[in-house]
Amino acid sequence: MREAFRATILHCLADPGEGAEASAIQQFDDGLLLIEDGTVIEAGDAATLLPQCEDVPVTEFPGKIIVPGFIDCHVHFPQLDIIASHGKQLLDWLNRYAYPVEAQFADAAHAHEVAGVFLDELLRNGTTTALVFGTVHAHSADAILAAAQSRGMRLIAGKVLMDRMCPDELQDDPASAYADSKTLIERWHGKDRLGYAITPRFALTSSEEQLAAAGRLASEYPDVWVHTHLAESTAEVEEVARQFPDSRSYLDVYDHFGLLRERSVFAHCLHLDDEDRHRMADGGGAVAFCPTSNLFLGSGLFDLRAMRSANVRCGLGTDVGGGTSLSMLRTASEAYKVLHLQGQALPAMSALYLVTLGAAEALCLDDKVGNFEHGKDADFVVLDPAGSPISARRTGVATSIDEKLFAITMLADDRHIAATYVAGQRYEFK
Ligand code: GUN
Ligand code: ZN
Repeated sequence: MREAFRATILHCLADPGEGAEASAIQQFDDGLLLIEDGTVIEAGDAATLLPQCEDVPVTEFPGKIIVPGFIDCHVHFPQLDIIASHGKQLLDWLNRYAYPVEAQFADAAHAHEVAGVFLDELLRNGTTTALVFGTVHAHSADAILAAAQSRGMRLIAGKVLMDRMCPDELQDDPASAYADSKTLIERWHGKDRLGYAITPRFALTSSEEQLAAAGRLASEYPDVWVHTHLAESTAEVEEVARQFPDSRSYLDVYDHFGLLRERSVFAHCLHLDDEDRHRMADGGGAVAFCPTSNLFLGSGLFDLRAMRSANVRCGLGTDVGGGTSLSMLRTASEAYKVLHLQGQALPAMSALYLVTLGAAEALCLDDKVGNFEHGKDADFVVLDPAGSPISARRTGVATSIDEKLFAITMLADDRHIAATYVAGQRYEFK
């Protein structure tokens, strides 16, 4: 059945870059988004499209802005309950907060309960697609993928591989990591809108045998994702250099084991050099820039300009629970500040790109989501520029759509998400 939505419509056709390249953006001030059976037919001017839509029901959102559903390129659903835990940098934070909360996921019922709450929070914040870490327990991947399936979401997730340098109760081993991941791939990958990610936690918590097993899976299943952390904190990078003395760099460790390839996504990448960045681009890897986490854990400042210069595909990740918000708009607001500190620009339209089409490109999902091209999934968000009293005042005096979107991005929270649509269906929050 055809259906249409009327509001201002904004989406990216390409990366607007630091110069806010206007041709990269398509904007319809009085726009119509026409969909059919969960798929985009067309986005255009209401005046042009309405005459062809005589029998089509039109939902009007006056004063609102429709943008593509947001995409979170890196997040940990089991860490929901340790968000905003005080005072530690990465390696201490893992021991103090992350590992204990993940140990609770030995209980499958708990994993299913958290998965549902987590996805409702994503949707409340306008996020319709995510690349998600589970825990070491295979049923954590079942929990999040089943919860996404029941909501009709496009989501990629995996069970974590970790067999050393972490609590015994959270360790698997190379053989079970391989076997469990294979079972989960066969069960979930390509089912409905779901994908599987082989998920070695990071180089410090996987033995060489386990990294080799992950690499073997990665070559046996080339259309499955690889999802891990890379070069987040300096203490971590130094320890990786001690553990893998023959590797040129941290990225070299993953590359050596066959984990750098198309559909490999690396969170953080703060402490890379140009050789690594070019190798990342040549190898087909992509990067999740996680600004709230990088600031909160005191990890460092991401160099987006250097990544772009090396042609590395980049999206944004919330990295909750190291990150402090599940909102991609808040995450974009912190990205703006991280870049500003380094003399780099992030215009509003480039921020929109990073949380929509850019993220879709980073995840190799740009044939499915990221903008309103014909045939893509009808995942979209209705933004309310007057979601709070202060944003109503600020956007009320904005004289351009760029200014309005920038103010929404800086001031946003879930009050600014008037509705979230997943494959054309409005999501009713619990
Ligand atoms: N590196 C290894 N594990 C983690 C994690 O859970 N969160 C973050 N931010 N970095 C990690
Ligand atoms: Zn992470």
